[in-house]
Amino acid sequence: MRPVRVLSVASEIYPLIKTGGLADVAGALPVALKDYDVDTRTLVPGYPAVMESVQRTEQLLEWPFFGGAARLLSGCSGPLDLFVLDAPHLFARPGNPYLTPEGTDWPDNARRFAALARMAWNIGIGAVPSFVPDVIHSHDWQAALTPAYLHYSGQPWPRTVLTVHNLAYQGRFPPQILEEIDLPPQSFAMDGVEFYGSVGFLKAGLQFADRITTVSPTYAKEIQTEDGGMGLGGLLHSRSARLHGILNGIDTTVWNPETDPAIPYRFNSAKLDDRSLNKTALQHRFGLELSSPALLLGVVSRLSWQKGLDLLAECIPSLLEEGMQLVLLGTGDTELQAQFHAAAHSHPKQVSVLIGYDEDLAHLIQAGSDAIVVPSRFEPCGLTQLCALRYGAVPIVSSVGGLEDTVVDVADEALRPATGFKFSSVVHKPLADTLVRANAFFRDRSKWRPLQLNGMSTDVSWRRSAKQYAQLYRDICDPSAARSRNEGSTR
Ligand code: ADP
Ligand code: GLC
Repeated sequence: MRPVRVLSVASEIYPLIKTGGLADVAGALPVALKDYDVDTRTLVPGYPAVMESVQRTEQLLEWPFFGGAARLLSGCSGPLDLFVLDAPHLFARPGNPYLTPEGTDWPDNARRFAALARMAWNIGIGAVPSFVPDVIHSHDWQAALTPAYLHYSGQPWPRTVLTVHNLAYQGRFPPQILEEIDLPPQSFAMDGVEFYGSVGFLKAGLQFADRITTVSPTYAKEIQTEDGGMGLGGLLHSRSARLHGILNGIDTTVWNPETDPAIPYRFNSAKLDDRSLNKTALQHRFGLELSSPALLLGVVSRLSWQKGLDLLAECIPSLLEEGMQLVLLGTGDTELQAQFHAAAHSHPKQVSVLIGYDEDLAHLIQAGSDAIVVPSRFEPCGLTQLCALRYGAVPIVSSVGGLEDTVVDVADEALRPATGFKFSSVVHKPLADTLVRANAFFRDRSKWRPLQLNGMSTDVSWRRSAKQYAQLYRDICDPSAARSRNEGSTR
């Protein structure tokens, strides 16, 4: 059997450029897939951060593209094989890949990411003879037009997979862009790219991809409902036979408490007591009182409505009363930033906040906090609770999406070893009650320690999920093999 060739298409990829978990997945999955005989190259935009760090570049193509001169390069970054779309008129902009320095969407985002998908289409139909993919795997709305381009050019091949990392970001643009992005007028229809009067990039991908995946089984169910579907629930439901929830993993070499260069004291489950040195280092770094009896809560997050951190802000009075401490690292919503700053200002020994993005500090928070709080309103998968499990920080999470699938509450111990705390309805009172519940556990080491150890022995790697993706790719390349396997398994 020859390896399956996959072109992965992503608008961010760790370690080159990252705004969130999408980059982590795009950076880790191709490496994990190597064990399953899948040969992946990832097409990424040539942002300055990418152009500066990509190595062994070679020019493959050069021509005018989407209103400017562009080149397609091949290159690599560590174990990642890359195609880079070097189009300075679209991507030579430092900072956040989607936003202007003022924090608004770049006005030409439709053209920028249509160009990315159009380049994927070019590679898909053989523009690079040395790598003609069997499958194009697009991630999120920024890459989602690829299956539409294949459809409207009458190309049945390569097969396509679209992964939804977050249905809240859909890439909707006015119909006038249709011509500019090289889609035919007839594509503007309900069974095409049209979505409530606009051009919907994600909608187009959902319409035409051979398979749709999302990043947890529970989120796969939630997005088929009226509430969770964010306007796309009906379409997703109609395609449910082709929709799969495959849980994310994390890169367990980047997130390894035994070898992590970003933390002052390395540890493992046999040397768990050394972990408390990281707690002191974290308290010191954030200027909190150096007090180990306090339950130290950590948050590493985008500050957006999705993440439910306004509810955590509401819990601060009860958290203070219980003697807990809180460190928060995040950036986003300015009102939330101000709210947490105010709490830190009035209670500097118990609450400390760092507004910004800092990878190393994220590792220290995972290594030094007693618990990691993720009170999301919705969460397709969530990676910070997976890092927490691996680092012996007990996750306290809302039971939605991937949080539901990856954390076992102490009350469900009869089913599986407990790893954390969950609360069901995303309002302030259940969260506050759960924090109190966790604090009571924390005071009893004989109860807390098993939670940490169970978490640390949970498999949060990509191993199992990479195998599922590999199988999915093979199934769409050879539907007859998939059919006979399925028939076999139902007997
Ligand atoms: P999302 O992709 O919705 O933001 P995830 O939990 O899937 O949420 O992934 C978030 C990723 O970004 C994790 O790797 C997390 O450690 C990282 N992260 C989020 N905010 C920050 C920050 N302010 N500084 C450093 N890392 C961050
Ligand atoms: C999104 C989701 C998050 C998920 C990540 C990677 O940003 O919000 O839940 O873990 O993508 O799939």
